[in-house]
Amino acid sequence: MGESSRPPISDGVRGVDGSHGSDGVHGGHGSHGSDAASAGRTFDTIKSDAVQLERSLQNVASHICPECRPSHSPHHMSKIIAIANHAGGVAKTTTTLNLGHALAELGNRVLLVDLDPQASLTEGLGIDPFSLPYAIHDLVLETKPGLVITEAIQKTDIPNLSILPSHIDLAQAESQLFSEYRREQILADLLKPILGLYDFVLIDCQPSLGILPTNALTAADELLIPVTSDPKAVRGLKQLLDTVTRFRRKLNPALKITGIVVTNHDGRTQLGRQMLELLREGHPHDVLSVVIPRSVRTQESSALGKSILTYQPTSPVSQAYRQLSG
Ligand SMILES: Nc1ncnc2c1ncn2[C@@H]1O[C@H](COP(=O)(O)OP(=O)(O)O)[C@@H](O)[C@H]1O
Ligand SMILES: [Mg+2]
Repeated sequence: MGESSRPPISDGVRGVDGSHGSDGVHGGHGSHGSDAASAGRTFDTIKSDAVQLERSLQNVASHICPECRPSHSPHHMSKIIAIANHAGGVAKTTTTLNLGHALAELGNRVLLVDLDPQASLTEGLGIDPFSLPYAIHDLVLETKPGLVITEAIQKTDIPNLSILPSHIDLAQAESQLFSEYRREQILADLLKPILGLYDFVLIDCQPSLGILPTNALTAADELLIPVTSDPKAVRGLKQLLDTVTRFRRKLNPALKITGIVVTNHDGRTQLGRQMLELLREGHPHDVLSVVIPRSVRTQESSALGKSILTYQPTSPVSQAYRQLSG
């Protein structure tokens, strides 16, 4: 009832073989005389060999280095999704990590951007932020002149999944960027050079509506809002949506709302069920039909620095994140 019929997150992203079928390889049409016909056939043979060779090379390249695969189309750009809510504890980080893992499982090249100084996403992938030579604060605050974004990006143990890690020093952004020129555009400018390299860029935001989440919403094509099915989170949602409306008018009119995803949902309690009903009635076009159930395994997985898709691949939470991605 009242469920959204929005398309899945990865709608529109095609397979990764990069092939174009037999387009452009025609028979020897329009030739008169045997010389012309044989020249036409030779040309067609060479062209068809070239197409086959290109496909084989792409196959080889994708086996050696998944990140080196060609983009799906010549005009391909990443879809940038900000995962934001000014409330804390609504599973923003959990959703970024597990949706990212699920999209990567489908063969998409995914970059996670940890834009929260708490660095929970970075730690959630088993990476110690203090062990890294560079992190996102070095780019945002320009602490290392000449550093390029690709130097700060880390590959993870999960195929196709990379992360731009965070560090507690990013907390200085709020005060340091206060008087900066184009301060809302910093992340968008940083991401520009790598947009063709990934199918999806997912940005995990801190629980505020300060300068960092504003940067995420300015850089993003879409906003995914995780919300828990408890009264406080439900009440805060209206305020968030009002802010997003104002934000769109001023900074990013093209920003779309992917949807509201209900997370950490306890369908066994009456309160949980009532809150879900209330959310669906209040936001019939935005609340996504996929609901992420509550499971203690999710907390265990983040404590162990693993995604739930790695820790318990077949759990209902993993399945729900897969549904969200597909
Ligand atoms: N589906 C779930 N079931 C149980 N616990 C969850 C679930 N999703 C998230 N959590 C837990 O809720 C807490 C807050 O999640 P987190 O992703 O850190 O929220 P946020 O990033 O919005 O602050 C974490 O301890 C996390 O493990
Ligand atoms: Mg978080």
